[in-house]
Amino acid sequence: MCGIVGYVGERDATPIILEGLKRLEYRGYDSAGLAVAQEDGPIGVRREAGKLARLAEKVQAEPLSGNIGIGHTRWATHGEPCERNAHPHLGPGGQVAVVHNGIIENFRALREELEAEGHTFASDTDTEVVVHLIEGYLAGGADLETAVRRALKRVKGANAFLFLSRRHPDRLLAARLGNAGGLTVGLGDGENFVASDIPAILEHTRQMVFLEDRLLATVTRREVRVETLEGTPVPFEVHTIPWDPVAAAKEPYRHFMQKEIYEQARSITDTIRGRADFENGRVRLEGLTLTPEEAHDLEKMVIIACGTSAYAGLVGKFLIETLASLPVEVDYGSEFRYRNPLINKRTVVLAITQSGETVDTLAAMEEGRRKGARLWSIVNVIGSQAHRISDGHILMHAGPEIGVASTKAFTTSLVDLYLLGCYLGELRGVLSSDELRRRVDDLARLPDLVGRVLDHGDEYAQLAQTFYDREHFLYLGRGINYPIALEGALKLKEISYIHAEGYPAGEMKHGPIALIDEAMPVVAIAVRDSVYDKMISQIEQVKAREGTVIALATEGDTDIAEKADSVLTVPETPPLLSPVVNIIPLQLLAYHLAVRRGCDVDQPRNLAKSVTVE
Ligand code: AGP
Repeated sequence: MCGIVGYVGERDATPIILEGLKRLEYRGYDSAGLAVAQEDGPIGVRREAGKLARLAEKVQAEPLSGNIGIGHTRWATHGEPCERNAHPHLGPGGQVAVVHNGIIENFRALREELEAEGHTFASDTDTEVVVHLIEGYLAGGADLETAVRRALKRVKGANAFLFLSRRHPDRLLAARLGNAGGLTVGLGDGENFVASDIPAILEHTRQMVFLEDRLLATVTRREVRVETLEGTPVPFEVHTIPWDPVAAAKEPYRHFMQKEIYEQARSITDTIRGRADFENGRVRLEGLTLTPEEAHDLEKMVIIACGTSAYAGLVGKFLIETLASLPVEVDYGSEFRYRNPLINKRTVVLAITQSGETVDTLAAMEEGRRKGARLWSIVNVIGSQAHRISDGHILMHAGPEIGVASTKAFTTSLVDLYLLGCYLGELRGVLSSDELRRRVDDLARLPDLVGRVLDHGDEYAQLAQTFYDREHFLYLGRGINYPIALEGALKLKEISYIHAEGYPAGEMKHGPIALIDEAMPVVAIAVRDSVYDKMISQIEQVKAREGTVIALATEGDTDIAEKADSVLTVPETPPLLSPVVNIIPLQLLAYHLAVRRGCDVDQPRNLAKSVTVE
């Protein structure tokens, strides 16, 4: 997934675009570039392979200035990451520049057709075909908007484009075709902005227009027009974003991931606020409308998600089934639509997605819609595709999550699933008012419990010193903490590149125990709960085979210290909320191991923040 930024106004576009790209670099960082329309001169382009810092150096050495421009930071799909394939791409006549997110599925056929007409291409990308098409239509006498619309109608696949024209250096053209990650127009005073994600332009404006599918926006410094690909004007809504610019900044932390780990007491408070009614012992979910009859009529819930969000879904199964007695299935977005799922109008399909733009999750939502299910989402980004296509939603209120490794979105998802369980439990008559009050009251202590773990965060640097050179880790959990073992392993592998597996502890004797040796640390989640004794026996089995155990234990548990090699402690927590607290030490462990290994924590190799390609 790539990052797109555009500016048109009275100020110099170059520094605004570079700063915007810096805030989007988490979306992809194989190469970067920008194009600026210069007064009475050609469109200037500067591009560099590698991180954004290299582009900034190039621009410093070869300055570029003008009042309108576009920029791009790339996560390579077609064409290796190098300067030649970096965006922006210029048409053969230098008339139109484009930056692009997504995949043009029919680009080979288009390229062959254009080459047969004598076009030669400067890159290996799919993107370049679109500016060749546009310049061909311009040469045939079409005006800019018509040429762009004609070219877009020939493009297949999910794509987002931003165009800059030499002939019309007063306007940007932004187009969205399918679920390739959003395009947002930011409205300023005598200036306007375009970006693929809100943080890129949040310091300039909070007034945002989210471009809907198959629409084209023409953006000048004083006006925004939105039309269909047939040229029909379309009204648009302006949203005011509640996030503050500081939230999208990293300081005073070393990494965004570190900042977001330490923000979790606050983000959990924010996601609870206004929903847990502590006065009356109830839960209110403003984004859902369900009558008790409809709630009773529900047959099952299917949770669909990817990666970390899928592991939140696995915890959600425990929460919704326990609190609301509603059967729950959990499936990966990338698998769901290929198994012909047995769902109908009595099914709720619940998507969990931080970005709201994960293409596998969106495709699964479309499948749910096609089969008549009720479509809900737990989503963080306002105006994202998932947010817009859902019948009902619960906003995470986690604030912008910039680090590629998801942390605060995960814990706010867990809290939202707990709130949803309480909400459905009351509607379905499963929770008595006393039981519901108890469940709501348990939430009141959660931010403080999380804060107590974070207070000891620095101690994990010492533990990382001991284990940073290990090549394999095993994470074991049972019951509601089995998904936490999966998530702990994912955190470690995606930022430190250490191989790590999460396993249900009871499965060890069915094979994985053969792996145990002193070289491979085993992280065992052994907090005081209903499966504590089983976890202790698991730890003893690992120790009997010379294994090394890092135990996650409840404060005050002195027995476990005699059995484990290292102990991470968490405060006593109500069992259904324990996953929220138990993941924090595993996030900190992964973070410090990655830092000690010198890894790029916020921009791990091969990854992007939101996967908008299949
Ligand atoms: C989590 O650390 C990963 N970055 C990744 O697994 C992520 O959770 C997954 O891509 C889903 O993203 P979403 O929540 O934005 O849909």
